[in-house]
Amino acid sequence: MPLYEKLVRPLAFLLPPEAAHELALGWVASGMFECRTPQDGRLAVQALGLRLSNPIGLAAGFDKDAVAVDWWDALGFGHVEVGTVTLRPQPGNPRPRLYRLPKDRALINRMGFNNAGAHAMRVRLQASWPRVPIGINLGKNRQTPLTEAPAEYAALYRMLAPWGAYFVVNVSSPNTPGLRSLQDPAALRDILQAIRGVQPRKPLLVKVAPDLEPAQLDALLDLALQEGLDGIVATNTTVSREGLGRNPGIDGGLSGKPLQPLADAALARLARGSEGRLTLIGVGGVFDADDAWRKIALGAHLVQLYTGWVYGGPKTVARILHGLLERMDREGVRSLDELRGAAL
Ligand SMILES: Cc1cc2nc3c(=O)[nH]c(=O)nc-3n(C[C@H](O)[C@H](O)[C@H](O)COP(=O)(O)O)c2cc1C
Repeated sequence: MPLYEKLVRPLAFLLPPEAAHELALGWVASGMFECRTPQDGRLAVQALGLRLSNPIGLAAGFDKDAVAVDWWDALGFGHVEVGTVTLRPQPGNPRPRLYRLPKDRALINRMGFNNAGAHAMRVRLQASWPRVPIGINLGKNRQTPLTEAPAEYAALYRMLAPWGAYFVVNVSSPNTPGLRSLQDPAALRDILQAIRGVQPRKPLLVKVAPDLEPAQLDALLDLALQEGLDGIVATNTTVSREGLGRNPGIDGGLSGKPLQPLADAALARLARGSEGRLTLIGVGGVFDADDAWRKIALGAHLVQLYTGWVYGGPKTVARILHGLLERMDREGVRSLDELRGAAL
């Protein structure tokens, strides 16, 4: 059994989840981790006008304040999504607000966009030298009325536009009251148009919830195509409790294994409907190479993980990349382009 699972994880899991998260982030930011990850042209992906060394990225919410952006590549990540960042700093919800469900290989969180704000992120990114593309995930402050959301997202984008390789409009976190209502096409259109009025234009995506009805997902897809969006991130955490051994009765968004079927279904629907016109980032329940393989076969250009990394430890991405290459050899798949959408 690898050292992480035998020793490090049991010790880390003795700490409250958020303390363990802060410790892990501090370790990554100190540059003390280095994993040997395969560098192989067959893993390279061209997406969002970027060339990425591999398709695996860190999902939003782990490095909310971009404190470790210079180091994630040492753990194998081909890109990192920082944030969710809000215009003004905010403390988030009271603790405890992050829970482990080890038997279900899941987490429940109701962090509520705790972050140091856009100015602090800009200062950090200005002083950083990341070796992989950094996406920036944007959210609105809790106190901001929904009607003021377009102006706020635009101001946030204006502040950070030079520093992100791509941007994600997050309207799918379940932990900011009313936020998910901004997935309504009329509301979202105003936000997207407000951002599009700001230069420089960077690739722009929207992150969706796994709890949308198929018709709502189709409406979002139509909007994305009409507004010239570059892609969709599918998905955020779920408010459903399906797939759990026992419902723990904790409020918040559920991530990890139980989210996987919902996230995969949303991804597949978007892939079928978009017919290659959008870049899709598949997130939700990725733990190993087979999970990443399935997301790509369902149409994902890029794959992100959060919960799988918490359970799998620092070598997770290296294992996934090795596993992808092995399976490509076994099945005679020469590139990820060839695999993409094969399961649709
Ligand atoms: C503790 C925690 C905090 C998160 N914070 C954010 C966030 O700030 N913004 C966001 O878009 N997604 C956030 N997410 C959602 C993840 O980015 C991801 O979409 C979700 O967890 C599903 O992926 P997973 O099953 O690999 O964890 C968070 C998830 C967790 C577990």
